[in-house]
Formats: sequence, C-alpha cells, structure tokens
Amino acid sequence: MKVLVLNGPNLNLLGEREPAVYGRTTLAEIDRDLKKLAKSLRVSLRSYQRNGEGELLDILHKQRNWADGLLINPGAYTHYSYALRDGIASVALPAIEIHLSDIRKREPFRRKSVIRDVCIGRVMGKGPDGYGEALKLLLKKIRS
Ligand code: DQA
Repeated sequence: MKVLVLNGPNLNLLGEREPAVYGRTTLAEIDRDLKKLAKSLRVSLRSYQRNGEGELLDILHKQRNWADGLLINPGAYTHYSYALRDGIASVALPAIEIHLSDIRKREPFRRKSVIRDVCIGRVMGKGPDGYGEALKLLLKKIRS
C-alpha cells in the first residue's frame, strides 16, 4: 500500500505557529512518527509540505499513479480552494482530510470545508495524533 501525504500552507511552521491552537510538535516530528507507524503497517509513505496551491496540485498530479490513497491537511485552502477540491476529485484517490484543530469549533470561516465531499473521511481536533488515526482510517476504508 502506498500513501501520499500532503500538508498545505503554514504547516511548515508547526511547533512555533500559534502553539495554543496547534501545539508544539513540529511537522518533522509528525512525519517521523507517521513514517514509523506506516512501516509497522507495511505502508510506503511519501510526504510533502508546500505553501502554494499550484505546488500542492503539481505533486498530487505527479504522484497520482504511484499512490493508492491520500492524506491531506490543506491548511487554509480547506475553506476556499476549489482548485484543490477539483484536483482531489480528478485523481480519484481515496482521501482523508486531516486537521490538527477542530475546525467546527473555531472562527465561522473555518467551519466550511470545500474538500470534505471529495474525501472518504476526516480526522480533526486530535492534534498530531490525528495523522496516525487518519492513516489507520484510510487503510480500513480501502480494505473494507
Ligand atoms: C488547519 C485548520 C485550518 O483552518 C488552518 O488554516 C490551518 C490548519 C488544522 O490543521 O487545524 O492552517 O488545517
């Protein structure tokens, strides 16, 4: 099983970015733990973080034939990027939406996710542990 992991804008600053909201764990630490979990589940991971919408789409297009599934935290693009939404629909990979915070309990503009209906599941409000949970959810959904 091969899983593509995409992280969107500002997630490279995890650990120092608004720690009261996102915690102190860095993206490198999240990636390290996720890769460990993936290895134990016999899953190959390719993980990328990009700030640009087009850069995320380029990776999605390039990796679409390698990957069997997608984990994506689109950051703020979640709330308005129809391009990313269409990209996920275009590659037709089973995808899980991830958010460290619970976007339903924050500012009103965050309550809307335009990618929600092109994903088969979502994990939010679990902090860094949400990535591992999302990987397990993806595998469960793909295998069921
Ligand atoms: C986020 C939530 C988004 O609203 C925000 O723009 C982010 C991070 C999260 O992981 O909680 O950048 O996706």
